[in-house]
Amino acid sequence: MRKGHHKTKRRDERRPAPREPRAAPTPVVIPHRVKIPKPPFPVTLPTPGKWLWTCRDGFEGLLYEELCWKRCGATLLGAGLVETERPPPTPTTFARMGFRVDALVTTPQEAAAALPSQPTRVQVWVPDTQAGNARAGECLAWESTIAALREGQKDPSTPWAAFEAGALLGQVCLVAPHTAAVGFVSAREALSLAAGGRARMKRTADAPSRAAMKLDEALEWVGVAPGKGDLCVDLGSAPGGWTRRLLERGARVWSVDTGLLAPDVAKHPRVRHFHQTAFAFQPGEAVDWLFCDMAWRPLEVAQLLAKWARNRWATQLVANIKLPMKDKLPVLLRVRATLEDGGWSGVQTRQLYHDRDEVTVRAVRKH
Ligand SMILES: C[S@@+](CC[C@H](N)C(=O)[O-])C[C@H]1O[C@@H](n2cnc3c(N)ncnc32)[C@H](O)[C@@H]1O
Repeated sequence: MRKGHHKTKRRDERRPAPREPRAAPTPVVIPHRVKIPKPPFPVTLPTPGKWLWTCRDGFEGLLYEELCWKRCGATLLGAGLVETERPPPTPTTFARMGFRVDALVTTPQEAAAALPSQPTRVQVWVPDTQAGNARAGECLAWESTIAALREGQKDPSTPWAAFEAGALLGQVCLVAPHTAAVGFVSAREALSLAAGGRARMKRTADAPSRAAMKLDEALEWVGVAPGKGDLCVDLGSAPGGWTRRLLERGARVWSVDTGLLAPDVAKHPRVRHFHQTAFAFQPGEAVDWLFCDMAWRPLEVAQLLAKWARNRWATQLVANIKLPMKDKLPVLLRVRATLEDGGWSGVQTRQLYHDRDEVTVRAVRKH
């Protein structure tokens, strides 16, 4: 073999395999920025005929801007409360619960009269704010009076029973002392089955982290979950709250984190711990579910998740994306666009009850 030829071959061998051409990323258009007013205190009372939305305390400005972007005539009423002329055409990320206000009332008797007569599971709640929570005690009194007045109306005994029966969720939101906005939503169309969207999950003594509750709530929201024998990858898994929950469902879990898992999770026979950065991890075979709770920059995490769809490494996605920055909405738009460009479809984002400066993302890989 000639010397020169040998050299050329070695250079070819070192050349990386040709990459598949990637489509140019979809340009992300950030809508006109909205000047967010200071939330009024005390709250401005809602108007009958309009829609009332509640969110996490302190996130009303974000919800207001989201609703302005969706052109539904938004007004910021106060901490945790936004009103719109009409419902948004597509779901928001930051609303926890919403309903059309039929009446503004001052007594539980008036609330009972304003609620629908057909089977309705009535929920009485306060906004999840300092002022709202200070009045949480009022809810019980309103609830028992309304229940007594609705006796014999064959109301579903739980929100889930209302969902199964295709019944209604009556909404009584105590927006101010002795003042409630009353309306209803179909249980099947409600943003949440929990009163005011506060889907409190049980913290079990054996769960090694608070994060486990985020996954429980996320799977309840998604409506499907991994089952026996499914293969899940859990990126950013330590100390193992999500991994443990997935194991409890009978799944096999490849748990990826530079940190350590709780000893009882690490030694589980259906777990493999990959003690490395998620950016270098490759599954080697396609998996059913990709979970991700990495505490890392949102756009880099979104690019990593997009790579998983592009390489067809996973079918279902549930991820918790951290948004510690003040200006969250443009970042969120870019995260969505990155995931969709990668090949995830049906991308939905929600700030769930257990999410703090973060949102939960759900998607399915395009076929
Ligand atoms: C909120 S914690 C995850 C909690 C976990 N879901 C649970 O239920 O216990 C965030 C994790 O992301 C991990 N993390 C951050 N950057 C990472 C990376 N590049 N690769 C893998 N893990 C990473 C951290 O080590 C940390 O354990």
